[in-house]
Amino acid sequence: MSHLLITGGAGFIGSNFVRHVLRETGHTVTVLDRMTYAANEASLAGLDPARFGLVVGDIADAVVVDDLVGAADAVVHFAAESHNDNSLSDPWPFVHTNLIGTYTLLEAVRRHRTRFHHVSTDEVFGDLQLEDPQRFTEETPYNPSSPYSSTKAGSDLLVRAWVRSFGVEATLSNCSNNYGPYQHVEKFIPRQITNVLWGVRPKLYGEGRNVRDWIHAEDHSAAVLRILEAGAPGRTYLVGADGELDNLTVLRTILRLMGRDEDDFDHVRDRAGHDLRYAIDGTRTRAELGWEPRYTDFEAGLRATVDWYAGHREWWEPVKAATEAKYAEVGQ
Ligand code: NAD
Ligand code: TYD
Repeated sequence: MSHLLITGGAGFIGSNFVRHVLRETGHTVTVLDRMTYAANEASLAGLDPARFGLVVGDIADAVVVDDLVGAADAVVHFAAESHNDNSLSDPWPFVHTNLIGTYTLLEAVRRHRTRFHHVSTDEVFGDLQLEDPQRFTEETPYNPSSPYSSTKAGSDLLVRAWVRSFGVEATLSNCSNNYGPYQHVEKFIPRQITNVLWGVRPKLYGEGRNVRDWIHAEDHSAAVLRILEAGAPGRTYLVGADGELDNLTVLRTILRLMGRDEDDFDHVRDRAGHDLRYAIDGTRTRAELGWEPRYTDFEAGLRATVDWYAGHREWWEPVKAATEAKYAEVGQ
């Protein structure tokens, strides 16, 4: 049994991972989270206090980080500023958290010789053309587009340098777009579901031809746990579930599942520098780790996600108006 320090554990994927770890292992968990707008303490409600604790603090605070890393057997690093649209209006928090925060954690795990897993994104590779037969592999060069993806790319490079130069025992994973419960309503799928539930029309950027490669957050959690247990130090793992769909198709599916006309949405201003397509080739990860995605029926996963938002209005409704007001300011 081990003690895990999980950064960003009050956010979307982090909170799903905390629940996964407590359910699937005997580990104890401390979450370090700054409780930004993206966090929600309710996402961690009801967890066993004998096995779980929350520390509110900044991953760029070297004193707090040193204490917590010193008490942990391993660190799983989810904390980040994670939304592309926000990074276009104000990049600074992305530089602070994704770069300086990751640097601060790396210095602490280096001092304490603590196992580290860094959670990253496929967006570090830039984008693919729609008709390109290629998908991202471990060999694809980094070519990030936005302040979000470039600061994540920078954080990946810091981790690799700390492995090579200082012998830090770290693994990395680059995963495709996640969906599932506890995702902030600023993101595409929960924004559209809660728009319908809230009585406003869904919003599609541009023509909706952009492709994302969807994976359920539960599958991502299982992959990260598997990497923590069996990953080779210094190695990068690509995590995806062969879930490529264009945004228009996803939106129409949501509308149909919610009993609406499939054309009942607004086209809004496109995102600046909008990446066209992401697609992960996860062959090597599957072969090396024996991990396989289980939530491969996207429509079933989406239906369960719609039901979750319909049944948890108290979780998302308090932040819905402010999120939509922020979008309205920029015509989205
Ligand atoms: P999220 O925005 O829902 O959660 C991020 C969490 O980090 C929040 O709880 C926030 O309070 C916390 N945080 C932010 N700055 C902090 C700081 N300075 N100190 C401590 N805590 C801080 O993000 P998410 O979607 O759950 O993503 C989690 C991780 O997974 C990120 O590293 C992201 O890059 C990566 N990722 C996300 C996706 C996706 O589809 N959402 C896909 C691949 C990888
Ligand atoms: P998002 O959830 O922000 O994830 P990412 O930018 O990391 O891929 O957006 C997913 C896709 O959905 C992306 O192509 C932008 C698009 N999108 C919309 O069409 N409408 C929206 O309201 C939002 C938030 C996103």
